Amino acid sequence: MAPTAPLANGLYVKDLAQSPDLKSVPSEFTFANDSKGSNSDTLPVVDFSMLVSDNADQRSKALLDLAKACEDWGFFVLINHGIPETLMEAIIDASLEFFDLPEDEKRYEAKSASDPVKSGTGTANAANHKILLWRDFVKSYVHPRFYCPDKPRRLRDIVSEYSERSRSVLRELLQGISENLELEAGSMDETLNLDSCFQLYAANFYPPCPEPDLTIGIPPHTDHGLLTFLIHNGVAGLQIQHKGEWFHTNSPKNSILVNTADHLEIFSNGRYKSVKHRAVVNTEATRISVVLANGPAPEVVVSPSVELVKRDGRALYGPMKYIEYVETMLSNRYDGKGNLECLK
Ligand code: SIN
Ligand code: FE2
Repeated sequence: MAPTAPLANGLYVKDLAQSPDLKSVPSEFTFANDSKGSNSDTLPVVDFSMLVSDNADQRSKALLDLAKACEDWGFFVLINHGIPETLMEAIIDASLEFFDLPEDEKRYEAKSASDPVKSGTGTANAANHKILLWRDFVKSYVHPRFYCPDKPRRLRDIVSEYSERSRSVLRELLQGISENLELEAGSMDETLNLDSCFQLYAANFYPPCPEPDLTIGIPPHTDHGLLTFLIHNGVAGLQIQHKGEWFHTNSPKNSILVNTADHLEIFSNGRYKSVKHRAVVNTEATRISVVLANGPAPEVVVSPSVELVKRDGRALYGPMKYIEYVETMLSNRYDGKGNLECLK
């Protein structure tokens, strides 16, 4: 028989999924999904090596690809980014090892929204009641201050290196975005204090599920921050919303899936929308995703860029301290709306 109160028993979805008697999804996990997404092979691709190229034509082409991706989709597949494949594999493997730890070594209970390391299983608000998600997770703040679970031992160095290398990629992408928005050189860096940019590492573990259409890994949501980087173990599951329809995201090995997030929408005064996305599960294979959320410095009060407000005649969003926004959103997640919709 399926357990009736997995969270109360402290059970992880990983353990639940391994139970030999599990033939159906326990009712607490039931989530009403709309259409499951249609395949798409037309997702925008940005070639990072062209963006940093000395060849002016190549760079212009990459800037154009980046602008179109941010405007049309809020999403792109980043290739040739220069982060070593071995490091990407290592962070996936070490994150998997985290979920294999004994329960008392992997439980970081969130006592408050500002705890820098958290893990467990997730809940969401659906139609006025809480549901459980088909996902175990771990999250930690990794920049400007670095926190990480203690085990597995190698996780710390791997996450630290991945976060550092990703920051260089982030800065180049934001430099390109700033040029595309025709902002004064350096104004975005300075206003958002990007030297102290906030980064949050999250690993999501989605075990196989007997009835994937009846539940969800992560319900539709938008991300806080500027750009989110996502890599995974080769098992598909991320879907993005585009023109009201859900699209699967297929990505070549070693690429990074990048999406525009709430604070890029705010800073660009609505030019680049924060894209809604979700994670679906499947019957066959365990999926793991490693997410790096990249935002402005925690203490920055984010408002639309002054230059863009001048051009537009008005600011479409009010000011809010970034870290307060993060903590509000982390404690109040997944009711099917985007974060910015929730604030209205
Ligand atoms: C997320 O949105 O945080 C994760 C989505 C995924 O695992 O694909
Ligand atoms: Fe997300």
